[in-house]
Formats: sequence, C-alpha cells, structure tokens
Amino acid sequence: MSPILEIRGLSKQFGGVTALSGVDLAIEEGEILGVVGPNGSGKTTLFNVVTGVHKPSGGSVSFRGHDITGLAPHAISRAGIGYTFQQAMAFAGLCVLENVQIAGEHVRVNAGAGQPWSTPQALLDFVGLAALADERAGVLPFGSLRLLGLALALATQPALLLLDEPAAGLNDRETAALVGLVRQLPGHGITVCVIDHDMKLMQMLCRRLAVLDFGSKIADGPTGAVLADPKVLEVYLGGDL
Ligand SMILES: Nc1ncnc2c1ncn2[C@@H]1O[C@H](COP(=O)(O)OP(=O)(O)O)[C@@H](O)[C@H]1O
Ligand SMILES: [Mg+2]
Repeated sequence: MSPILEIRGLSKQFGGVTALSGVDLAIEEGEILGVVGPNGSGKTTLFNVVTGVHKPSGGSVSFRGHDITGLAPHAISRAGIGYTFQQAMAFAGLCVLENVQIAGEHVRVNAGAGQPWSTPQALLDFVGLAALADERAGVLPFGSLRLLGLALALATQPALLLLDEPAAGLNDRETAALVGLVRQLPGHGITVCVIDHDMKLMQMLCRRLAVLDFGSKIADGPTGAVLADPKVLEVYLGGDL
C-alpha cells in the first residue's frame, strides 16, 4: 500500500536559519508515527509546512497520492489533514459544544459515510467532555482545554491527524486518558503522527519513530531500535533518554 503522506526532500529556511533540511518521511495508513528530536530540531516546522502554515523552501508533500505542496491551510484541512497546536486554543467566549460545531462546519469535501462521530455531542462523548458541553471554553481547566483541542481537530474529519505535544502540561491521569483516546483513532480510520518529548508516552503510542536533529532526519524505524541507536543516544546525551 502506498503511504497516506509522503514527504520528499522537504526544506524550510527562516532567514539564515535552516529549520528543515532535505527531510524524507512516509506515513503509512493506519499507523501512529512518532516524531521526536531536541528543542529547535524542526518538529513543529515539519507540521507547519505539511499543513500549509508555512510554504516550504524546497521539496514536496503528497497526501493520498496528490501533491499538496504549498497549498493554503484551509485546502489542506479540507483534503483531510487535521492538526492540533502546541498551544491549546479555542474560542474562549463560546461554549465547548459551539466550538466543536464551528470546527465541523468546514469539513472535507469527501467526508460522509464512515465518519466515526455523527454529531458534535458524540464527539464530545468520545473525548470525555460531554459533561462540560455547555461550559465556556475560556473557563476550562488546562487538561480539558487540551481535550477540546483534540475534539476540534477531530471535528474536521481528518484522515490524518497531526498532534504537536498533545500531553504537554497534562498530569499522569490526563496523559493516560489521552493515550487511550489516541490509540483508538486508527480503528476509526484516522492515521496519526505525534510529536512529543515524553519517551514513555511515545513508547506507549508508537511502533515507529522518526528523529530530527538540526532539521535533518537522523533515524527512522521501529521504536525500540531507534531508541537504542547510538546516533539518537548521542543527540539526547544527558537529556530525556
Ligand atoms: N516562524 C519562524 N520564524 C523564524 N524562525 C523559526 C520560525 N519557526 C521556527 N523557527 C526556527 O526553526 C527552528 C526549528 O523550530 P521548531 O520547528 O519550532 O522546532 P521544534 O518544534 O523541534 O522545537 C528553530 O531554530 C526555530 O527558532
Ligand atoms: Mg515544537
């Protein structure tokens, strides 16, 4: 089977800073792929280029066999790529349910049969926020705001969901709940690519890891093998591993 997302030779410069340098990466349909690397290694930039937030300086991105390189964010979202931000975000003045309704208003063109959540309420139920449906998003505790961010991304009915540090700031119980949710996504037809620093979390979620360092991919393979790779250990020397 061909990959759902195929990134080839992707580069991004910000002025004199090389954030990404010739990155090749394929995401297979139905997998949960992890992307790790030290701070500033280009992880968020990779997501920003794939989702159209930033135009690449070179290289290409193809999604389900279609070239999406440099398309606008709304076009890429409609094509079926969802995204949660490193910073949790929602319309603070609107209630939780209204936020999910609005996010679902511009769903992808080819959405329809087989979508796992038929209503915004069903989606809130899935992420465990049903009891908070009428609360203003602005008063939610941090953990619930993160779950709302996940619900907003899922409301766009993505075939591929990109999660940027979804567990940042969550306590152990909230992180466990998040892991339980994310693990269910492939069963709902949603391929996942997740960035996080927490290697325990990544080991629980991902069978495969790709590692970035200074904008280049330095490893890509089964999680256990990648975490034992001397090149990877060197990057993390004295750090998280
Ligand atoms: N919008 C931007 N403008 C200028 N430099 C940026 C921008 N976004 C990221 N960078 C730079 O690109 C590099 C990679 O950043 P980033 O992708 O955020 O790394 P990571 O998510 O792995 O911590 C860093 O040197 C960062 O300062
Ligand atoms: Mg980042």
